[in-house]
Amino acid sequence: MTVVVGMTGGIAAYKAVNVIRGLVLEGHDVHVVATESALRFVGLPTLEAISRNRVHTDLYEGVAEVRHVAIGQSADVIVIAPATANTIAKLSAGLADDLLGNTVLASTAPLVIAPAMHTEMWLNPATVANIATLRDRGVVIVGPASGQLTGSDSGPGRMEEPDVIVDAVVRAADRFAAPRSGDLAGRRVLVTAGGTREPLDPVRYLGNRSSGRQGVALAVAALARGAEVTLLAANLEVAEPQGVTVVHVGSALELSEAATEHAQSADVVIMAAAVADYRPAVSVDAKIKKESAGDRLTLELVENPDILAGLSAHRREGQVIVGFAAETESDDAARLEIGRTKLARKGCDYLVLNRVSWTEGFGSDSNTIIVLAAGGAVVAEAAGSKMSVANNILDVLV
Ligand code: C5P
Repeated sequence: MTVVVGMTGGIAAYKAVNVIRGLVLEGHDVHVVATESALRFVGLPTLEAISRNRVHTDLYEGVAEVRHVAIGQSADVIVIAPATANTIAKLSAGLADDLLGNTVLASTAPLVIAPAMHTEMWLNPATVANIATLRDRGVVIVGPASGQLTGSDSGPGRMEEPDVIVDAVVRAADRFAAPRSGDLAGRRVLVTAGGTREPLDPVRYLGNRSSGRQGVALAVAALARGAEVTLLAANLEVAEPQGVTVVHVGSALELSEAATEHAQSADVVIMAAAVADYRPAVSVDAKIKKESAGDRLTLELVENPDILAGLSAHRREGQVIVGFAAETESDDAARLEIGRTKLARKGCDYLVLNRVSWTEGFGSDSNTIIVLAAGGAVVAEAAGSKMSVANNILDVLV
């Protein structure tokens, strides 16, 4: 396959030469795009000799061949090693002020990045936010490892070992390879994500802390595995994925209507959204005023339709329906029992059970789940990034 290796200006560039070498020795056609600062760490002749191809650095070279677009379009996978904090920030913002930025933006190939920087830079809230953004977009982040840094200090920030990066590149390319040949090829998958907001008045709502990360990861993973994906997005805190049909909804009633419509043509329905069980009995047109409510305000709530139960009761022959249950029960056995009861009550085929608390589940980048099948058997357990958990869930469905 054609691998584009982006190299940016960090001391780990000398180690990244072995990423290029590893890919070449595995038989891949490797094209290096190096930034100006990368070439301060490693010489161009080294990169050309090892990659066995011309190295590209200049945005204004080969303009007639529209090189800034051509390189990205030719890639089956792009890996950036090392990826500096600066490059990570630029990728997260979508900047294209050099050849590498243009190459990445012009490509639909999977992107793998191997960050390398000092611990303080890796832990800086700006870098943390940028990495979260990239992860939400489906970028594979390899490392960094923890260990000795350039100076005498040590900690997280060391670029992952070249063989681990090569392995991640090959796996990312496989996973995202030709969607039509993925194990969900030809399947229509409907995913709900986010949290509903139940309007109280024109400026207020009752909501929940679901960010939509797990649902979006499921949509991205299903797309990569060849499915045609529709995402019903309820107030996402994360970027919408590209390549899927996104339908925006706000409240549980809106989600109910959209889910009922789109489920008709879906082979698989995954209800990852956190749906409010109740909504205010009345949503008033004018802002609720303290002057008229006094020192105690009572809200009357009415039950929302249970979308999952409704879809399960009316499912088409062969349609697979997956529910989620986020529970605060801390005892594992008791939580499993809650899951089994919920699965039976909702009538879905699978229930993904996870624990939520003030700090776990909602809003975080990782998740720990158990998948129950109809009847209550545990068919999968997984922990890790929401993307890897999404693939574990899809493995069960496949
Ligand atoms: O009952 P609970 O809210 O824990 O159930 C969670 C599962 O049911 C999720 O899959 C959620 O999307 C779905 N649900 C629903 N309609 C509701 C409430 C929850 O479809 N009104």
